Amino acid sequence: MCQLVGGACMPGPGDADMSLICLSDFEAYAKEHLPKATWEYYAAGADDCYTRDDNLQAFTRIRLRPRMLRDVSMTDTRTTILGTEISAPIGIAPTAFHCLAWPDGEMSTARAAEAVNVCYVSSTYSTCSVEEIVGAAPDGFRWFQLYIYRDRKLSERLVRRVEALGYKALVLTVDVPYTGKRRSDVRNNFRLPPHLKVKNFEGIFEDQCGPDNYGVPANTLDPSISWKDVHWLRSLTRLPIIVKGILTKEDAELAVEHGVQGIIVSNHGGRQLDGELATIDALSEIVETVHGRVEVYVDGGIRTGSDVLKALALGAKCVFIGRPVVWGLAYKGEEGVRGVLQILAEEFRLSMALSGCRNVSEITRNLIHSSKL
Ligand code: FNR
Ligand code: LAC
Repeated sequence: MCQLVGGACMPGPGDADMSLICLSDFEAYAKEHLPKATWEYYAAGADDCYTRDDNLQAFTRIRLRPRMLRDVSMTDTRTTILGTEISAPIGIAPTAFHCLAWPDGEMSTARAAEAVNVCYVSSTYSTCSVEEIVGAAPDGFRWFQLYIYRDRKLSERLVRRVEALGYKALVLTVDVPYTGKRRSDVRNNFRLPPHLKVKNFEGIFEDQCGPDNYGVPANTLDPSISWKDVHWLRSLTRLPIIVKGILTKEDAELAVEHGVQGIIVSNHGGRQLDGELATIDALSEIVETVHGRVEVYVDGGIRTGSDVLKALALGAKCVFIGRPVVWGLAYKGEEGVRGVLQILAEEFRLSMALSGCRNVSEITRNLIHSSKL
């Protein structure tokens, strides 16, 4: 059915489900079918949600300069991140609590990522344990998202577990010294229902103080962490470290100086500091400063293939998607997540072809209309 190289193909005639054809269709389905408080938790941004919404709007302000007559009869969406080949420059950002959207939650997410051959960054706050995630998709390509906890031994134990399980990198989230104020969660008094657990903490936190408003152990995140803790983490493990949540060239420079291997330009989906800039607007200065010394990725508001194209043209090696993955789960578990990934990859392939790019190395800054440079 599909003669092209790289990513999986869009469903064609004869394939199971053609009713959802773009990521917003999955969003509409999830909004209609998830319990209200769950939907609002996933959708939430901080305060007035300006940054959450600007993550999407910023893409619409960027215009492309496509090239014609470049023989796009074959297009190849494959690329590598930290040396590992993936079918398309699209990965799964860490998001918490997948079992709220689908019974076996992260295990379905892991199977979908393995089937499509993309990177799955599993969240510390997953409702399946890292062991269950690896068991569900033993050949999947995975990174582990980590926080540095007040109890450094907890962070260290998580690192040792994921090292032993074959995770390929650590993604250190640095934009949550405190959790942002998401009004809907406050109003709903949102918390993880008692039948679900942060499985990675099971057996570790039994005697700690009670849960915070998300149902995760309270007072575990350490707001005093600083760059010296990145140094500490570096000394602890040989796994590559990627810092997630960088928005400025100053912090990007510090990250490189502290020996990380990658940066995810992210504002946590607009869930932390409302009013901070959209990630696609932050990307350029970071790419310029880093100047190829480490890989730069971006997440936030990526919903179409042309968003992926724009991010790569502005220098990202790969993009990550957060909410669309839980929409896919809410629709049909593994099949839904596969649908989301395949549709986005196919849209990206089409955008590449329509802009005259046959492979990802042909996607350059020259594609971006100069008013945005
Ligand atoms: C997140 N994000 C997140 N990040 C992280 O490092 N650890 C986590 O556990 C979570 N949990 C989480 C839950 C939910 C419901 C959302 C929406 C987001 C942030 C996530 O990794 C990513 O930065 C954004 O989701 C990207 O934006 P989009 O794709 O959702 O617009
Ligand atoms: C969130 C936390 C879990 O954004 O990172 O909901």
